[in-house]
Amino acid sequence: MAESMKGMHRTHRCTELSTADIGQTATVMGWVQKSRNKGGIIFVDLRDRSGILQIIFEQEDIGQEGFEKAYKLRSEFVIAVTGRVEARSGAVNENLLTGEIELRAKELRILSEAETPPFPIEEGSKTKEELRLKYRYLDLRRPDLQRNLMLRSRVATLTRQFLSDEGFLEIETPMLCKSTPEGARDYLVPSRVHPGNFYALPQSPQLFKQLLMCSGCDRYFQLARCFRDEDLRADRQPEFTQIDMELSFVDVDDVIDVNERLLAKLFGEVLGINVSLPIQRMTWQEAMDRFGSDKPDTRFGMELKNVTELVKNCGFSVFAGAAAAGGTVRGINASGQGEMPRKKIDALVEFAKGFGAKGLAYLAIAQDNTVKSSFTKFLSDDEVKALIAAMDGKPGDLLLFAADKNKIVYDVLGNLRLELAKNLGLLDKGQYNFLWVTEFPLFEYSEEEERFVAMHHPFTMPMEEDLPMLKSDPAKVRAKAYDIVLNGTEIGGGSVRIFQNHVQEQMFEALGFTREEAYERFGFLLNAFKYGVPPHAGLAYGLDRLVMLMAKEDSIRDVIAFPKVKDASCLMTGAPNVVDKKQLEELEIAILGEPQE
Ligand code: AMO
Ligand code: AMP
Repeated sequence: MAESMKGMHRTHRCTELSTADIGQTATVMGWVQKSRNKGGIIFVDLRDRSGILQIIFEQEDIGQEGFEKAYKLRSEFVIAVTGRVEARSGAVNENLLTGEIELRAKELRILSEAETPPFPIEEGSKTKEELRLKYRYLDLRRPDLQRNLMLRSRVATLTRQFLSDEGFLEIETPMLCKSTPEGARDYLVPSRVHPGNFYALPQSPQLFKQLLMCSGCDRYFQLARCFRDEDLRADRQPEFTQIDMELSFVDVDDVIDVNERLLAKLFGEVLGINVSLPIQRMTWQEAMDRFGSDKPDTRFGMELKNVTELVKNCGFSVFAGAAAAGGTVRGINASGQGEMPRKKIDALVEFAKGFGAKGLAYLAIAQDNTVKSSFTKFLSDDEVKALIAAMDGKPGDLLLFAADKNKIVYDVLGNLRLELAKNLGLLDKGQYNFLWVTEFPLFEYSEEEERFVAMHHPFTMPMEEDLPMLKSDPAKVRAKAYDIVLNGTEIGGGSVRIFQNHVQEQMFEALGFTREEAYERFGFLLNAFKYGVPPHAGLAYGLDRLVMLMAKEDSIRDVIAFPKVKDASCLMTGAPNVVDKKQLEELEIAILGEPQE
């Protein structure tokens, strides 16, 4: 039977008590982590958001009735206890914040009984994630997830404080928006009032924040919910949160400056980590050439080397052929891995094939300088020597090469580099390497759509010196776009925006929109630009990704209270679900085929 807490007031959270409180009376409330009966003395570990406190029940303090009640306590019962803080009667528990004290109970109330939970609630749970997500409200009781939520809240609070102090206004933008397809797929919301019409949930507040600059708001920020119907991965959710900002009368360096100070504040105050400023910057081209990735993990080396010139005329047709076809040959040096067994090398070849490689050529240098390789038989001794020298090969090293179209070579070696680092344990989660990647290409070619698409978004300003190529050679145009990368994860990205109508129109033209189509979709922005628009720029962080890295977690699900799983469903509530016929009729919506149950 649940008792009332009438007349009892919580005085402390569990870990707010310490040796300084010995002798004081305190009232705590929380969940029973575990209870054990040691010959007439009952010990209970009480858990709340702050941590754990040991309670000791003895009949002489709490009376017979109270003691019998304590005897009934089971895991996850919710209780209130008033007692006296004492030094631990038994051994000090070094693992607990409150390991030197205990609370000697004088009054106990059972506020709620609990059935046995479907899995034990404990730090670093080994229970399958599906089960934990089904009972997410129980999973969230785990101290590790509680810490993550507290960390996230702290990051949000500090961000608000910092940006407000820097003159940013927090402004909300709509959730029910106009669908302007470009980027990911939209989540659509049917309109009842306008049958056959749909809102789209925002993929980001991009257009609204630019309009706020047109409105003279000068500096805007928002912790914005964003929705994207795309395939999920460990660092992607269909709905996620951005720290979104936009600034007027600024250029790249101004945005970078504010954000470096924001990151330094967050990491300094939350983790006690000193982010040394300025953060390293690297152009997109350099990032691709050195790391095969636009979000390089710079915690370790193993950089790519371009050896195309050296091997373009060699007798190995794979290398010579790739060079002749306009591709490249590049390699990485897995230093110290020259003894890697053939089986493991074969696994790396398979891994490379997963990224489109036709193969992976290897060259292992033994300690006695003899070479084991899949291709050196086609090369002269001098060519082999030159190749090894170009790769900085030392006895005991393993050299891995990919030959193909440039894009594939980057992708294969960029990912191989990460895979090797993971396998070799080179990734230290306690080390935080920040990097700005700048000067992204403005466009990338979409094979699927057979046209250029914006690499960041269609409102991104081309670099002034590349403007003349917008018509003649769009693939070469670089953008005033930048990403902030942390340990190989893109935590944020942004750009300087186009603010001149003629440039924006040229941009839409390069993307293959007619003038009419451009106005149909983005007319409200183009019109706004006609009435006086300040030069502006901005950036958005993925808050979930940022907090994931700060919490040293591998998935953003671990820092989101109620995340969705891979097929975008919620295992706890069962969303999405089939709706009433009546609801559909109101919306004048008919379902083609049988709804999926
Ligand atoms: P972008 O599309 O690069 O830029 O998004 C900004 C940041 O949001 C995070 N992010 C995600 N996080 C979780 N799940 C997802 N599905 C997901 N998609 C993106 C990433 C990313 O760096 N409006 C522009 C910003 C601007 O130009 O100011 C934008 O949305 O960390
Ligand atoms: P093959 O002549 O196809 O047997 O390939 C000889 C060696 O070259 C094998 O180790 C292959 O894995 C490797 N190889 C094949 N294609 C490529 C490629 N595109 N890039 C790098 N190595 C390759």
